[in-house]
Amino acid sequence: KRNIIIDCDPGHDDAVALVLAARAAGLALMGVTVVAGNSGLANTVRNALNILAFAGAKDVPVYAGCGKPLERELLNQSGERIHGKDGLGDYRFDAEAERPQEKNAVDYLAETLNAAKEKVTLVCLGPLTNIAAAFRQCPECRRNVECLVIMGGAVYVPGNVTPAAEFNFYVDPEAAEIVMSSGCKIYLHPLDVTMRALFGKEEIEALRCSTSRLAQFVGSLLALYAGTYERELGFYACPVHDALCIGVLVEPTLVEYENTAIGVLTAGEMAGKCVPGAAGGNTWFGTKIDSGRFVKLVTDMVSAEE
Ligand code: BDR
Ligand code: CA
Repeated sequence: KRNIIIDCDPGHDDAVALVLAARAAGLALMGVTVVAGNSGLANTVRNALNILAFAGAKDVPVYAGCGKPLERELLNQSGERIHGKDGLGDYRFDAEAERPQEKNAVDYLAETLNAAKEKVTLVCLGPLTNIAAAFRQCPECRRNVECLVIMGGAVYVPGNVTPAAEFNFYVDPEAAEIVMSSGCKIYLHPLDVTMRALFGKEEIEALRCSTSRLAQFVGSLLALYAGTYERELGFYACPVHDALCIGVLVEPTLVEYENTAIGVLTAGEMAGKCVPGAAGGNTWFGTKIDSGRFVKLVTDMVSAEE
């Protein structure tokens, strides 16, 4: 099994990623670290705990991390606009969450990676604050990172917060820059690919009408998410950005990559913008996706017998 730690800020699409990770037979989910992003930290932590419990992964330890970006204040509005005040559009779980672990997520990441006997894949689904802070705290821990599988950035397409920047990179551009220049191997999934794999009405309804508990859950989350897109952008469909990072761990050929260094701008109106650099190096960013296969993969994984 492949050892993974997920760093996230749930968030509808983070929620789908967590459900998939809990279902993926080939992945050993060691822990989940949580960051502020789509909503404040208290909400994103509670959401992560609730989602894991719902997905039957209550034993996976959850660690609360940074409540705000490295050098900036948290911009609440843009996450709230899409994901609602509590990060999950007021989705109600039957049981309320347990508490997270005592240890802070940054300490957990730095210590666990540093002591790891086998390499660990970091799946990064939110602003990169926790990861950058862990790399700063213990630069040596990077030697045990197999690779980072990141959702973030917009390379050749416009951003979704500003024309220049995608949400995760925009919220904490300094952290994004630290991680992207960390020297670790990186598979980046920018809006260039995640916006090309949308769930439409038919696919969402099929999930909602499924007899599987998890499929119904994912279907109702996506219905809330697509409803927001309809109000904001005028069409009923939604991307499931973060879930793609688990999708490629299950089916590595879902996405085609280009091997090019990616820098991140941090100043002024360009904050969070990705700048492609020289070919080669440690970064691969997604350029093409087989969207039909991705939609089917997600649907099959959440519909399978528990
Ligand atoms: C990213 O921003 C968040 O709103 C989503 O959870 C995803 O991680 C997409 O830009
Ligand atoms: Ca996210």
